[in-house]
Amino acid sequence: MQQRAIADFTVSAIGLGGMPMSIEGRPERDQAIATIHAALEAGVRHIDTANSYHLLAGEVGHNERLIAEALSGWGGDASEVLVATKGGHLRPGDGTWTRNGDPAYLKQAAKQSALDLGVEAIGLYYFHRPDPAVPYAESVGALVELLAEGVIVRAGVSNASVEQIKLADELLDGKLAAVQNQYSPAYRQTEDTLEECQRRGIAFMPWSPLGGIRSAKSLGDDFAPFHAVAAAHGVSPQQVALAWELAKGSTVIPIPGASKPASIIDSAQAADLVLTAEELAALG
Ligand SMILES: NC(=O)c1ccc[n+]([C@@H]2O[C@H](COP(=O)([O-])OP(=O)(O)OC[C@H]3O[C@@H](n4cnc5c(N)ncnc54)[C@H](OP(=O)(O)O)[C@@H]3O)[C@@H](O)[C@H]2O)c1
Repeated sequence: MQQRAIADFTVSAIGLGGMPMSIEGRPERDQAIATIHAALEAGVRHIDTANSYHLLAGEVGHNERLIAEALSGWGGDASEVLVATKGGHLRPGDGTWTRNGDPAYLKQAAKQSALDLGVEAIGLYYFHRPDPAVPYAESVGALVELLAEGVIVRAGVSNASVEQIKLADELLDGKLAAVQNQYSPAYRQTEDTLEECQRRGIAFMPWSPLGGIRSAKSLGDDFAPFHAVAAAHGVSPQQVALAWELAKGSTVIPIPGASKPASIIDSAQAADLVLTAEELAALG
């Protein structure tokens, strides 16, 4: 699989999003483990998770523990895999999402995530979502302290505007490693943040890169140009969407979610799908 080297790290050009394995509609544990193993066998070396990827109130860290279990039971070298997690977005267990950008909470949450992932230091840790009740600089300040304390190796922000990216990079002394924002054929409003990351050499991880759990399957029907290019290459429209994202910039690393091995095996092939300039122009 094609790799992407950004700042001090190199990962597979396609990652695996862990959310569908732990929230509503999640599969049985064995299927989830098989999905993670299928990703690793396909060459995926980047897995995205969050402490909030769980269903019920008492299950914080469900997805992190699942990934840790899958990695420890895998025959390959787990040290090659960048596992990224996040804090600051919570699920009380009633189907809603809440926010907590309090630095004390974020620091405690990161330490718990390290325990749940079974690692001494988290390879990449994101502040999940801005909290209007807490100044952004204070939340990012927790990342600065977590780096200094060695709890995390790299810091990222998610759901961030261009202004927030600039502020976070400044507070982190130019060491903001990654930005994770929503971006897909159906959701392009964040293209300014993708471009800002490209200018600064910061990794840009599109979340819901296929349009989200509920829309991912219908991508080809809703987006005719993606369907046409897919037919020409004899591949799925989902692969075309991911290859189109990769072509948007050398620091882009999509993280398609999956709850079945077949989904991530198909998505992983997007890393090696080359689209022509004419095709990319048709996709916009
Ligand atoms: N930072 C944030 O605020 C935020 C928010 C949302 C998500 N995320 C992260 O981003 C990741 C991806 O987003 P997402 O999971 O919401 O949406 P997504 O990646 O757009 O769609 C996920 C769904 O796509 C299906 N799929 C994957 N590859 C496919 C293929 N090649 N062909 C057909 N279907 C395919 C999967 O189906 P099956 O389930 O049937 O395998 C899965 O349920 C998440 O898992 C999570 O790690 C972050």
